[in-house]
Amino acid sequence: MFQQAYPASPIVWVDAGNFAAVGIASAQVRNDGIIEGLNLMGYAAVMLGERELAGGYEAFQAMRKKATFPFVSANIHFEDDGATLVEPWVIHKVQHGKREIRIGIIGLNRYNTAFLKATADGRNIVIGSPAKVARKLVKEVRDKADLVVALTSLSISQARQLARAAPGLVLIIGASGGVLSKTQDVAAGVPIVFPGNQGKYLAEVRVTLPPGGEGPAIVRRRNHYLNRDYPQDPELQMLTQEVLGAENDINRNLAAEHVERAPIPATVATYAGSETCGACHQDAMISWQVSRHAKAFDILVAKNQDFNEECVGCHTVGFGRRDGFVNAKATPELIHVQCESCHGPGSLHVKDSSLRYGAAGARSCLGCHDPENSPDFDFYISWPSIRH
Ligand code: HEC
Ligand code: HEC
Ligand code: HEC
Ligand code: HEC
Repeated sequence: MFQQAYPASPIVWVDAGNFAAVGIASAQVRNDGIIEGLNLMGYAAVMLGERELAGGYEAFQAMRKKATFPFVSANIHFEDDGATLVEPWVIHKVQHGKREIRIGIIGLNRYNTAFLKATADGRNIVIGSPAKVARKLVKEVRDKADLVVALTSLSISQARQLARAAPGLVLIIGASGGVLSKTQDVAAGVPIVFPGNQGKYLAEVRVTLPPGGEGPAIVRRRNHYLNRDYPQDPELQMLTQEVLGAENDINRNLAAEHVERAPIPATVATYAGSETCGACHQDAMISWQVSRHAKAFDILVAKNQDFNEECVGCHTVGFGRRDGFVNAKATPELIHVQCESCHGPGSLHVKDSSLRYGAAGARSCLGCHDPENSPDFDFYISWPSIRH
């Protein structure tokens, strides 16, 4: 898209790191997939974040070998001799017309005195203070590059301090949880760009150099929310599907066949299942059976995403509740969006239908029909097609 809009402009892809999956069974498959994706897109540099080291130094080295781009970090270092794990910065060269432009890309992690990783041969890895190295470093890189960019995991306010303390940066690109920067996030003339996490946003930063190279660069930026209006790249889409499918296969193999549940007191309502309700509410049953809710789990099976915990919640009954859906092997009776997904657990009502139960209303839809998964949802348009 950008290439089409600005055919003459070189495009430089960078990432502020902390992309690695941690603590899930399929972490290795996911991380390999992310590296492959970054390779495909031709990333110029990626900051080495704490998460990339969560699986240990050796796992990171394996990850690094697969990457066709350099990792940068100026303040993740070995404790004994102070050597950094990866380059503190790199120069990325791009050609613009006849001119070669050298972009210095620095990695600066947030200070974390609690961070400690040991290598297999017993060396400690720590994170030093970014403030201590920043000033000297920016100066050093400034001498060798036309533009100096910092990638960072600092917060926005710390990034502002960095811009003031280390003059010479043209841009700070950061990632700190889901934080999104605003146009006003500028310090000492340096724009600060934070595009959130989980790949939901893409920051477009356009740098216009003054003709002849004299004077400051003009920087314009915008965070793009990557909704369906943005075209999919077929190659990356295929890779994503492959990786998600491989992760689903791992999760399916690991999924327990049975669940041990703590006993629930008889006074607390549990899930009875749509079949049970249908015995007394035939009209509602018929209306539900013809709706897509009654088949909502099939689409996850078809996409090989039926064991993805990020998906099942809205395509089943009561996921996360103590008597709700666990996985399709252990609780097959709780797949699909059933009566009780909207009306709540109904066992007490089944026993005594005179008890008040089941108010649903428009609000009951919005937990699943949220802007991300159901952007066009409008209760007054949707309800008539499932009215009962
Ligand atoms: C044994 C028969 C029976 C079963 C089984 C049963 N219901 Fe009911 N349900 C009733 C009766 C009777 C009423 C009251 C009808 C009325 O007041 O018009 C009722 C009322 C309701 C209401 C409306 C409450 C209101 O305040 O208007 C909802 C919603 C409801 N049931 C949902 C369910 C769901 C969901 C299930 C399955 C978990 C279920 N019912 C199972 C008999 C049953
Ligand atoms: C927050 C709730 C929620 C989560 C989480 C969720 N979905 Fe859905 N999904 C929905 C809703 C609601 C619809 C119906 C959307 C509509 O028609 O407006 C839907 C529809 C779909 C559809 C059919 C419509 C289409 O766009 O083709 C597919 C496929 C699907 N979901 C797959 C997934 C996958 C895969 C995941 C996990 C990555 C997932 N869903 C996670 C709520 C959710
Ligand atoms: C997608 C959510 C959803 C599902 C699934 C659903 N309902 Fe409802 N139901 C509602 C809403 C919303 C109302 C409107 C009244 C309200 O606000 O409770 C309602 C109303 C009702 C009523 C009261 C009707 C009346 O005339 O007052 C009954 C009974 C009922 N549902 C039973 C069921 C049964 C049985 C099933 C499964 C076969 C079911 N519902 C599935 C959302 C749902
Ligand atoms: C537990 C999650 C959940 C809740 C609660 C829920 N839905 Fe859905 N809904 C879904 C999913 C998932 C789909 C997509 C199923 C598929 O396409 O396989 C869907 C599909 C639909 C569709 C069909 C979409 C289409 O365009 O054909 C309608 C209509 C709908 N929901 C209306 C509602 C309404 C109205 C409510 C609230 C009363 C509601 N839903 C509550 C999860 C939910």
